[in-house]
Amino acid sequence: MKKKILILSGGISKERRISLNTGLQVAKELKKNKYKVIISEPDINLSKIIKKFNPDVIFNALHGQFGEDGYIQTILETYKIPYTHSGVIASSIAMDKEVSKKIFIKNKIITPNFFVYSYNETNSNLIKKINKQLKFPVVVKPLNEGSSVNVFICNKKNIFRILNSIKNYKKVMIEEFIGGREIQVAIMGNNKLGAIELKPKRKFYDYQAKYNTKAKTKHIIPVDLPKKKLNQVMNLALKAHTIIGCSGITRSDFKYYKGKFYLLEINTQPGMTKLSLVPEIAAHKNISFIKLIEWILKNASNKK
Ligand SMILES: Nc1ncnc2c1ncn2[C@@H]1O[C@H](COP(=O)(O)OP(=O)(O)O)[C@@H](O)[C@H]1O
Ligand SMILES: [Mg+2]
Repeated sequence: MKKKILILSGGISKERRISLNTGLQVAKELKKNKYKVIISEPDINLSKIIKKFNPDVIFNALHGQFGEDGYIQTILETYKIPYTHSGVIASSIAMDKEVSKKIFIKNKIITPNFFVYSYNETNSNLIKKINKQLKFPVVVKPLNEGSSVNVFICNKKNIFRILNSIKNYKKVMIEEFIGGREIQVAIMGNNKLGAIELKPKRKFYDYQAKYNTKAKTKHIIPVDLPKKKLNQVMNLALKAHTIIGCSGITRSDFKYYKGKFYLLEINTQPGMTKLSLVPEIAAHKNISFIKLIEWILKNASNKK
């Protein structure tokens, strides 16, 4: 009997397009390898589709809000069908940059200094606070977004214009800017899969640098670091994965500056197109795209 896989992709987040891409590519690969596959949106028809198709596993290819933050995972728990990646609580903690950074700090994982800004402070107070706690330039970012959507590097001159342009979020994170190198680590179950370095041609690893091949971000693998340092960053990623309670695959994003690794965030639903970073790290370890997908499917579970 062919295994039946339902792929969830699309959704309503700002990363919808990326998710559709992940869904299509995973579906293509599975169909080539004799799985029975359907793709569905996580919408009102999902229950009906699941009842009719009765999948063996649900592959969650969603990113961002309502796909990566515990909401859809809560619904998936009710179907009693194994689903991929992290469960409800780990997903919601990892998606919330404020909460996850507080957990990193408690566990002695270095993360850039930050505070949360909620649009009710006077401009001069904010400037004073930044000068005292962080110093310019700073990074302004949403608390629960991905793909560098609405992430900005700000100075004294442009910060109010930028804050104003994203005030729909109500609260945003203001973080100390860390220079240096950009290194990301993939964890697979309880194993350190590997690391990759990104060298964007743009000012930072923004949305264009991530998805527009014309932006020409350089991917470097293996990462040129002394073995001890490479181990250190991989151990930090494994520690983050473990303390947040993640399952399956995660990808942790670091900056490396003056000998120190700063963890920016952990992603519980990293991109899974053939050209995404985790598949690239896996390929370097001789794990093909289909083998990676099959591992993720085998690791799917109900978390409760
Ligand atoms: N504190 C920081 N210092 C320097 N660069 C940062 C900082 N925070 C974010 N960035 C840049 O923005 C990118 C996206 O930030 P990240 O926190 O990983 O959010 P996202 O969830 O959107 O990926 C990072 O990969 C990095 O290039
Ligand atoms: Mg990131």
